[in-house]
Amino acid sequence: MKMGIYNLFAFYILLMKMIVSGWSYGSADGLSMYYYTMTCPFAEMIVKNTVNRALQSDPTLAAGLVRMHFHDCFIEGCDASILIDSTKDNTAEKDSPANLSLRGYEIIDAAKEQIERQCPGVVSCADIVAMAARDAVFFSGGPVYDIPTGRKDGRRSKIEDTINLPPPTLNSSELIRMFGQRGFTAQEMVALSGAHTLGIARCTSFKSRLNNVDSTLDTQFAKTLSKTCSAGDNAAQPFDSTRNTFDNDYFNALLRKTGVLFSDQTLSDSPMTRGIVMGYAMNQAMFFFNFQQAMVKMGVMDVKEGSKGEVRGSCHKIN
Ligand code: HEM
Ligand SMILES: *[C@@H]1O[C@H](CO)[C@@H](O)[C@H](O)[C@H]1NC(C)=O
Ligand SMILES: *[C@@H]1O[C@H](CO)[C@@H](O)[C@H](O)[C@H]1NC(C)=O
Repeated sequence: MKMGIYNLFAFYILLMKMIVSGWSYGSADGLSMYYYTMTCPFAEMIVKNTVNRALQSDPTLAAGLVRMHFHDCFIEGCDASILIDSTKDNTAEKDSPANLSLRGYEIIDAAKEQIERQCPGVVSCADIVAMAARDAVFFSGGPVYDIPTGRKDGRRSKIEDTINLPPPTLNSSELIRMFGQRGFTAQEMVALSGAHTLGIARCTSFKSRLNNVDSTLDTQFAKTLSKTCSAGDNAAQPFDSTRNTFDNDYFNALLRKTGVLFSDQTLSDSPMTRGIVMGYAMNQAMFFFNFQQAMVKMGVMDVKEGSKGEVRGSCHKIN
């Protein structure tokens, strides 16, 4: 009897796993957890090793990889449009001022190169970007999670599309609306903003806040920001005190009124999102859980399947 219940339970777990991982993505958009199992079994491992090696020598690049995935997905879906170089006739997303110092391109190139040697023409650049972001989160101490693969690479990358990225001047209600238009709840938006636990912002992204410092910005921290900016527009200010560690420090910083961007601080100032920020500041496990779920969701935004996309030979240009 005991055994029977146990078996039933195990079967149920297996069934749920299959539904969650394989079937739903498989039927919805051609993605699946086991997409490359037969065609390029070492793809995930190659990406992980490449990312780990690169981050061991420069841990600050984790932020670059996570941000790259975000920018990729929010423009034209997760289709590696962010990696396309401009040509004589086309100015690509990359060259927008909104590319804002994206970093880590060389890591994607290195992974792609190795993968192409093993299984040419099989693994998309979009999947490599998604895997690399996932591995960067884990490398930095964040949650480990599985992502479905099978994204195809897009054939369009235009500078004007970068208007779909949120500027750092948005307030909480505008952020809720903008992410809402892309299918995210306020809670998911706040969780995703928690990616700012990694990395830096340049002075140019927050200096307008210093013109008239209000009560939403800690006065001592305002001085810190001014000092950073005294070194110029490109001077870097870490989002929190642990810029290379994925933790919930960012949310605690917001509660202390030491958020760097206006769009960060507004999350804890607005009654619409303050409770969520407090929750994540108090409970890192909850932040990690919501973050990984939101990342998986972001990672399947408007993905291209089948003939709607291609597998690029070089991530820098369409075939
Ligand atoms: C909620 C709306 C968001 C706004 C307004 C925003 C804006 C910005 C800005 C202005 C910077 C600094 C860029 C610079 O000065 O060079 C930045 C950096 C960063 N953003 Fe966001 N972001 C948002 C959401 C996200 C999301 C959803 C992710 C990823 C899931 C993300 C990941 C990052 C990372 C990791 C950095 C640091 C990059 C580095 O150190 O190189 N951001 N963001
Ligand atoms: C980002 O855009 C600027 C132009 O605004 C360009 O000069 C720079 O090369 C771009 N950065 C990358 C990494 O493509
Ligand atoms: C957010 O900004 C919009 C547009 O500037 C404004 O209408 C709205 O009142 C602001 N919301 C809050 C809560 O400040």
